Order: sequence, then structure tokens, then C-alpha cells
Amino acid sequence: MVEITVVDRLGDVRTISAKPGASLMEAIRASDFGDILATCGGCCSCASCHVFVDEAWTASLEEPATAEAELVEFSQFHRVTSRLSCQIKVTDQMKGLRVTIAPEE
Ligand code: FES
Repeated sequence: MVEITVVDRLGDVRTISAKPGASLMEAIRASDFGDILATCGGCCSCASCHVFVDEAWTASLEEPATAEAELVEFSQFHRVTSRLSCQIKVTDQMKGLRVTIAPEE
């Protein structure tokens, strides 16, 4: 398991355990912490799994695919560190990753 730090919309912080190979969205939902709706179930069509990746980690993650980049850009809360957590596959190299759940739209 990989330890990932998640900051929820209230600023509460928790370290969750994520299974390599799962999506970050799945890991957050399984942790029962943070309020990620993920209404499309990870099909990259709703953006309700929007997170901000800690700047120290943005270069370490794979670049978002075009569909993810285009979808997240439409968010009113879009930042350069925005990602859709359903499109981030957890790897062993992500130990210590920190993300913040974006405000709900
Ligand atoms: S769960 Fe819908 S885009 Fe990520």
C-alpha cells in the first residue's frame, strides 16, 4: 500500500493507504475521507473528482491525457496543478503524494 496525504474541503488532513494500480479517486473513496462524488465512476466525463496536486509532485506524475486536460480546464476552480483523481493511477513511487480536494462546483 502507498501512503498518500489528502486535504479535504474543510482543510482537514489525513494520510490514506492506496493500492497500487487503483485510481487515486478509488483510493480516496475507499478511505471514506474527503467528499469526492465521482459521479461518472471514473470515465473522465464529470470532473467531480477534481483535486489539486501539491506543486512538489506535479512534475513526477504522468502528463494528463487530452480528454482529462480539456475537461478539468472547464472547472471554475481550475489551477495549473489541477488533475482528475480518477485519471491518476497509484504507483509505488507516489509514497508521500499530497493532494487537496477541489471545491465542489
Ligand atoms: S470520476 Fe468523473 S471525471 Fe473522474
